[in-house]
Amino acid sequence: MHVRKKLKIGTMIHGVGEKISDWRHPTMPSDASVSFEFYKQQALASERGKFDFVFIADALYINEQSNPHYLNRFEPLTILSALAAVTSNIGLVGTLSTTYCEPFSAARQFASLDMLSGGRAGWNAVTSGLEKTALNFNKEVTDHPNHATRYRMAAEFVNVMKGLWNSWEEDAFIRNKQTGQFFDPNKLHTLNHEGEFFSVLGPLNIGRSPQGQPVIFQAGSSKAGIAFSAQQADVVFAIMPTLDEAQRYYIDVKEQTAAVGRKPDDLLVLQGISPIIGDTIEEAERKFEELAGLVTIEQALAFLGRLFEHHDFSQYPLDGPFPDIGCIGKNSFRSDTDRIKSEARKQNLTLRQVALREATPRTPFMGTPEQVANLIEAWYEQNGADGFMLIANLPSELEAFVDKVVPILQKRGIFRTDYEGITLRENMELPYAENSYSL
Ligand SMILES: Cc1cc2nc3c(=O)[nH]c(=O)nc-3n(C[C@H](O)[C@H](O)[C@H](O)COP(=O)(O)O)c2cc1C
Repeated sequence: MHVRKKLKIGTMIHGVGEKISDWRHPTMPSDASVSFEFYKQQALASERGKFDFVFIADALYINEQSNPHYLNRFEPLTILSALAAVTSNIGLVGTLSTTYCEPFSAARQFASLDMLSGGRAGWNAVTSGLEKTALNFNKEVTDHPNHATRYRMAAEFVNVMKGLWNSWEEDAFIRNKQTGQFFDPNKLHTLNHEGEFFSVLGPLNIGRSPQGQPVIFQAGSSKAGIAFSAQQADVVFAIMPTLDEAQRYYIDVKEQTAAVGRKPDDLLVLQGISPIIGDTIEEAERKFEELAGLVTIEQALAFLGRLFEHHDFSQYPLDGPFPDIGCIGKNSFRSDTDRIKSEARKQNLTLRQVALREATPRTPFMGTPEQVANLIEAWYEQNGADGFMLIANLPSELEAFVDKVVPILQKRGIFRTDYEGITLRENMELPYAENSYSL
């Protein structure tokens, strides 16, 4: 009999906010993105809520138009290493680019985080959409690989990482002081990888991770992104506005996972949500309006522009139809740009409406703790998601979720009351990643 896995919950810690104006809210510490104390409090609140993991997003190019959080924030692996020392159970998931990093360094960094944290590390593999990122890595904008090439690189990058993580078998280090034997050479494996994009000899200079291999996360929802997840990832994120769309996406991901010979349950689907919780629906609505009211139209245009390679939307009439900008952005955040253009066309939206919708999207997950818990239960039970990643706008929303929504989910038996295991894989009910040489 197929037993449904328990609901999974993670939270994105994003300093002064994923949205442009959250930093201006009276309750938001304006230096949150570079405050260890802030990250620590968010991680401890998430651990109190028995969440599976905290998540750190990242990108590698900024300009004056970027969101305040992007301008001045911690590098993911560094902050996660610090958080490893002040937490005990929660998973630590960080973003790293497959287009602008080297798989040897990445494999070593995540294996180190995994060892430091006792098996709690996860890697969010991203392909880095913005073409000007190339300028920070000894390349020209024209060298920025196109969408399809980036995903081919990503697949090879992950294969190299997984290969390097198999360098040492579990019991390779003997450390026998009497005989002087430090390791068993039969349990050391050299990768010798020569591929289309990477040439890596190996072996890796750190041993086997406590969970076999760190958990691999991915968030691209284009066709190529989903195919990549189906092959390579343990967890995939998306942000879908309705249960109907979430269900379609869920079925697609699970079918593609099965088609490559994996069990559909081996790839967990998590939906990103930004709940707004009030004692009454009116209070939740007021909170949303307060946050939305902090955003100026200029900021909303800049936020929209980033998705289209930082295109300058201020040059078009605000109350005219959404401008035809050709294929700008096709090569970066493709699923977002396709969606935005198609919604604008179908619903006859003006530029102002599009910008404000993107910068301050209304969430269906708005209401009393009971109402938010009902929605979570419905999406989970009706195959819209295996779990959720909270992208809370304010620290108070994370606290409200932990203190008011989690107990309801626990009472209903959907969510854990304590951690089941030690490693992130155990808590996420993902199989231990066996070393292919030990099988
Ligand atoms: C919940 C969530 C978190 C994401 N985090 C990051 C991130 O930290 N860095 C990044 O460059 N992209 C991030 N993305 C974007 C995706 O990784 C991906 O690049 C984007 O969706 C475009 O890929 P696609 O064309 O396959 O959809 C995130 C997306 C989602 C839904």
